[in-house]
Amino acid sequence: MVQFLFNGCGTGTGDLVADIYLNRKVDSVLSLMTTEEKLGQMNLLTSDWDVTGPTMRDTYMEDIRAGRCGNIFNAHTVDYNRKLQQIAVEETRLGIPLLFGYDVIHGHKTIFPIPLAEACSWNLELMERSAMLAAREAAASGLHWTFAPMVDLSRDPRWGRVSEGNGEDPLLGGLIAEARVKGFQGEDLSDPFTLAACVKHFAAYGAPQAGRDYHTVDMSELHFREYYLPPYRKGIEAGAVSVMASFNDLFGIPATASSYLLTDLLRNEMHFTGFVVSDYSGIEQLQDHGVAADRQHAGELALLAGVDMDMQSAIFAETLARSLEEGKIRMQDIDAAVRRILRIKFRLGLFDDPYRYLNEEREAEVIFSEELMEHALVSARESVVLLKNEPVNGKKILPLSSPGRIAVIGPLADNQLDMLGSWHAAGDHTKVVTLLEGIRKRFSGAEIRYSEGCDFYSEDRSGFGRAISLARNSDVVVLAIGETQDQSGEAASRSIPDIPGIQEELALELIQTGTPVVVMIMAERPLIFPRLNESASAIFYAWHLGTRAGDALADILSGAYNPSGKLVMSIPRNAGQIPVYYNTKSTGRPADPNNRFTSKYLDVPNEPLYPFGFGLSYTDFSCREFQLQDTLMGMNDTLHLSVSVKNTGAYDGHETVQLYVRDLVGSVTRPVKELKDFQKIFLAAGEERTLHFTLTTDDLKFIGKNLEYMTEPGDFRVFVGPDSERLLEATFTLVKNN
Ligand code: NOJ
Repeated sequence: MVQFLFNGCGTGTGDLVADIYLNRKVDSVLSLMTTEEKLGQMNLLTSDWDVTGPTMRDTYMEDIRAGRCGNIFNAHTVDYNRKLQQIAVEETRLGIPLLFGYDVIHGHKTIFPIPLAEACSWNLELMERSAMLAAREAAASGLHWTFAPMVDLSRDPRWGRVSEGNGEDPLLGGLIAEARVKGFQGEDLSDPFTLAACVKHFAAYGAPQAGRDYHTVDMSELHFREYYLPPYRKGIEAGAVSVMASFNDLFGIPATASSYLLTDLLRNEMHFTGFVVSDYSGIEQLQDHGVAADRQHAGELALLAGVDMDMQSAIFAETLARSLEEGKIRMQDIDAAVRRILRIKFRLGLFDDPYRYLNEEREAEVIFSEELMEHALVSARESVVLLKNEPVNGKKILPLSSPGRIAVIGPLADNQLDMLGSWHAAGDHTKVVTLLEGIRKRFSGAEIRYSEGCDFYSEDRSGFGRAISLARNSDVVVLAIGETQDQSGEAASRSIPDIPGIQEELALELIQTGTPVVVMIMAERPLIFPRLNESASAIFYAWHLGTRAGDALADILSGAYNPSGKLVMSIPRNAGQIPVYYNTKSTGRPADPNNRFTSKYLDVPNEPLYPFGFGLSYTDFSCREFQLQDTLMGMNDTLHLSVSVKNTGAYDGHETVQLYVRDLVGSVTRPVKELKDFQKIFLAAGEERTLHFTLTTDDLKFIGKNLEYMTEPGDFRVFVGPDSERLLEATFTLVKNN
């Protein structure tokens, strides 16, 4: 191993002097490198631990030793990563440390709710803390870099990966992206309790045609910039040091080969200075997309578009030297990519101490620590959305008031693995508290009996009899149905995202017994369940909540925690409504029940079954006295708004009050509503509080027809309320300053 110049100097935090230092350090290393070593730094290979795509090379250790591979993913634990790091540092000519990446999506060993569920908390601090704690646990396990946050906006529950995102709204999605990047990265990348973040998948991966994973994405650039781009922008502005190019094509070019996306937009317009990694074999796939004739051509396209690191195709390492000789690419293209990667290795402190993340004692202390386990509970409780709580025989079922006999039924009721959710990284399902276990702990005085009832896939009704008899002989049924963890996530698109198998039939038969049934829908995407919705009196959207799932749900059932989640994705009535989302355009023929020739269906309403922002509490809230300080707003003014919110029910609880705006006349068509702000507040029973909001001209900006970001004077409608449909409204006019 050679001694590098500048070892031990600052790690480069973005200020100018530190940055100059950092660049000099990077150049000092670069000047020592052969072309092959440079290409090795641009190569990211999977270890043989978890493989999330085709394995192309099982020779990754030899590649590391030969300097052909500078980065590894799917390897964790201090012990294992030390072995690999030793090869890189002690057995290669230059000793450049490896960068270890992994999909730490919603926790590492301690698993938090899937991101879509956690987004329903509308609690940015909570999400930042989840990312911070996940980073701490993963970093203690020898990792440096997470392939998260995924910030792909999506309106299509057929697409299995909605689970990893933040739903359908660009503003909320952007704020969550920012919170998660800050949480993962902290203040200083060289802090060995943090991870480098990776904003993914750039761009618009969440809009595949027909909801089919990896499929073509096409939309107007105006639409892209207005809805899909903002979350990526916010993640980058928050300082994310890497971005992953998406698998899909957009505007006719695969993102991995799109210099428009990766250079013009990302670097030149959005000022991203970190490195771009391809997705898993994304470069190789340029051949299947039909834009590259062979592997070498694919490598050239990706490099010249702006990809710096090749995940799992090994094309950069194998073919770019030839491309260089043939004059298809220049050494400065390679150097630019290597510089970007080395900068991050320096900023992580790896050149100061390649083993700084590798400490067995710390690993033992941090993994499954009390702090992490406690947060898993807090986060799970806040993620649950109460959809329905209607009286049965004149009395609401929820919260459960000390039932004597509880029947816990369903294939998800005593199920550890599925509670972890998709992309559960190194999560350990044996640590999961199931719903049944949670109920047993919380309702220790009750007689609790369990029956699976049915499974997820088959038509086997043989378990119905016992489940029905348990229901008949109980005071309440808690029924857990939905999807398995592998029915969502990558490569898990479903053309009809309903409740799989015969689970809905089981639910309907249990409801028929007359015993009150609390339905817990556990899934990672909005499912379609109109029949069940009709018959059930109490429904939770309970997602896949992670390690403390059962504890959280039992706290909610008992009323120890009052549910507060609000949907971040609309729940459709049927598959034909997809995509259904709240911030749609009006059309020239907005739906009118008295006029056939307006934009609507003959068979279902336009509105979803449950809209964006919706979620109930055990208590009731009312919003009143919505006031605008003025009905005129100048271009440099701030408009002050207020609304009074009262907890009119019998329980203390949280309410998330949402502020929406509609631009009534624009030079381009504007959405019927756009979320502009929200406040999540806690009110004791009977308490009333006035909330204050402000709007500035910036909040009213939009993408104009020449793709410029602009404001136009005119009339606006402003709305406030508990979800995107039940709203108080007022109007104001934005006027030009004289
Ligand atoms: C493919 C997925 O699309 C991406 O999100 C993930 O980070 C990589 N595989 C690595 O596992």
